[in-house]
Amino acid sequence: MIEIAAPPARILSKERLIPGQTSKLVIHAPHIARKALPGNFVILRIAPEGERIPLTIADTDTEAGTITIVYLVMGKTTAALEQLGEGDVILDLCGPLGKATHIEPIGTVICVGGGTGIAAMHHIAKGHHMAGNRVVAIVGARSENLLLFCDELESFCPELEVCTDDGSCGHKGFVTDILQQRLESDADIGEVVAVGPVPMMAAVARVARPFNVKTTVSLNSIMVDGMGMCGACRVTVGGETKFACVDGPEFDGLQVDFDELRKRLNAFKPQEAISYQEWKKSHGQ
Ligand SMILES: Cc1cc2nc3c(=O)[nH]c(=O)nc-3n(C[C@H](O)[C@H](O)[C@H](O)COP(=O)(O)OP(=O)(O)OC[C@H]3O[C@@H](n4cnc5c(N)ncnc54)[C@H](O)[C@@H]3O)c2cc1C
Ligand code: FES
Repeated sequence: MIEIAAPPARILSKERLIPGQTSKLVIHAPHIARKALPGNFVILRIAPEGERIPLTIADTDTEAGTITIVYLVMGKTTAALEQLGEGDVILDLCGPLGKATHIEPIGTVICVGGGTGIAAMHHIAKGHHMAGNRVVAIVGARSENLLLFCDELESFCPELEVCTDDGSCGHKGFVTDILQQRLESDADIGEVVAVGPVPMMAAVARVARPFNVKTTVSLNSIMVDGMGMCGACRVTVGGETKFACVDGPEFDGLQVDFDELRKRLNAFKPQEAISYQEWKKSHGQ
């Protein structure tokens, strides 16, 4: 039997977008870069005994054979990932996983991104732009220093609306305030896409519902195998059980049971906190 070994996934560059909190890695992974489309994600493991975590592919460069990932340091594994730097190798990197974003010529698309979700939204917005759609981007963060990918989005979005909770940049308030205004003033919106924290995506769906506009959300359910076998990522969409890893991660936001998703995401909070504390202690933090 012939075995084809994937080349080691080496980190070519690392940029601390928000020091201590959010970083961007450009990883040499030509076998993934060749196939990855907007909406896809990877699952990676950085230590032999470590857990596997999903991260969205925020961009690709097929010529250079690279993928870009952006992560928020949340717990043990992302903190350990944060310790890696340029030249280091990711132990294993599996992808591209998940269904790619459904992109078709649809006119104007409003892409809404919140926090780290802006990076994933960027790849989807770029895909819509390449397909000839007019992309209006609405991005939100707690404060100006937590905004991501604004320059990149500005390069192809005719309009970029910025919102901050504290008013340090753009509109003081939530992305849904601007979304509501846009939906009221423009009857030709073909689709709304939202990527970000679960409460934000649920709020986007609530605002979009009365306008009867197609609304797509990218769900960050807990994943283990990413192959549709373990059942960890199950979500209820339109009353049916779906697996976010193989049926998604993108779903019709008007049909998602967000309350159930929220509960499932919180299921391992105590264990996650203990594991992070132990990791910090063992690393002198
Ligand atoms: C399809 C998909 C794409 C994602 N893309 C990104 C991304 O681009 N950038 C980013 O920062 N985060 C992304 N996430 C979330 C990321 O996987 C978690 O932040 C990461 O697993 C946290 O691991 P940890 O050990 O550092 O923290 P933990 O302490 O284990 O967990 C912290 C939080 O992360 C969530 N989480 C933990 N393990 C998983 C898991 N295996 N799968 C999903 N969520 C988990 C928990 O609900 C918890 O709220 C994505 C999740 C999914 C499902
Ligand atoms: S992660 Fe196992 S079924 Fe989706």
